[in-house]
Amino acid sequence: MDYKEMLASIDKSRVPQHIAIIMDGNGRWAKKRLKNRLFGHRAGAQTIREVVECGVDFGLKYLTVYAFSAENWNRPEAEIKGLFKLLLEFLKKEIDEIHANNVCVKLLGSEERLDPAYLASINNTLKLTWNNTGLQLRIAFNYGGRQDIVQAVKKISQKSISGEIDPESINQELIESYLYTRDMPDPDLLIRTSGELRISNFLIWQIAYAEMWFTDKLWPDFTRVDMVQAVLDFQNRNRRFGAL
Ligand code: IPE
Ligand code: IPE
Ligand code: MG
Repeated sequence: MDYKEMLASIDKSRVPQHIAIIMDGNGRWAKKRLKNRLFGHRAGAQTIREVVECGVDFGLKYLTVYAFSAENWNRPEAEIKGLFKLLLEFLKKEIDEIHANNVCVKLLGSEERLDPAYLASINNTLKLTWNNTGLQLRIAFNYGGRQDIVQAVKKISQKSISGEIDPESINQELIESYLYTRDMPDPDLLIRTSGELRISNFLIWQIAYAEMWFTDKLWPDFTRVDMVQAVLDFQNRNRRFGAL
C-alpha cells in the first residue's frame, strides 16, 4: 500500500485524538554519516514537518512532540545552544505553512532556565497560529513529566493554604487541571523512535493508558508512512482500561 491507500484505510471513527512522540535518534543518525549531532537535529526537524502534515491529512486533533527534556540540560552547552537556535529558525521558516494548515502551535513545559528574550521570540513567532482551530501542535520543550507534577502540586498546595482549594476536593480532574497539558486530552498513542524502550520522563501522568508504539528507525528516517502505520496498528488493539 502506498501512503494514500494507507490513509484511506484508517477507520475515521476511531482515530487517536492525541498522539505523543518521543523523537529520538538524531545524534546516532548523524554519527552514522560521520557528521556532528546538530546535523542530525536539523534532519530531525524536517521529520516534524512531515508528521504535522500527516496529522493534518488524517484529521488528528492533538500532537505533542518531545523536543527538549528537562534532563537534556545535561548535554554539552554547544549542543543545547544549537538545539535552541534550530528550534527558533525552524519555527520561523515553517510558521506560514503551519498557519495555512490551520495548525495551532504552542510550547509545553517550564520557563525555568530559559532566556526570557528567547522565549519571547518563540512566542512572537507562534502567536500567529494561536486562534487556529485545526491540529493542536505542542512542542514539549524544557519539559519533564515529574517537573510538571511538581509545579502542579506547588500551585495546589498554595491554594489549599489560602483556602481556595479544599484538600478533600483534590481528585484526578483537579490535578489534571494544573498540569501543563490542562487543555488537552491524554495521549491515546505514544510513539518512540530509535529503538529505546523507555519513557524518559515524558508525560508520565498523562500516558497512564496510552498505547505504546516503538520503532527502531531513527527520528530523521521516520516518515508519514510510519506515522500512519502506527495509527493502523493502534486501531487493531483492544483498549480495555482495566475493564473486560
Ligand atoms: C533526540 O535525538 C532529540 C533530542 C533529545 C533533542 P538525540 O539527540 O537524543 O539522539 P540520540 O539518541 O543521541 O541518537
Ligand atoms: C528523550 O530523548 C528526550 C527527547 C526526545 C527530547 P533522550 O535521548 O534525551 O532520552 P534518553 O537519554 O535516551 O533517555
Ligand atoms: Mg536520544
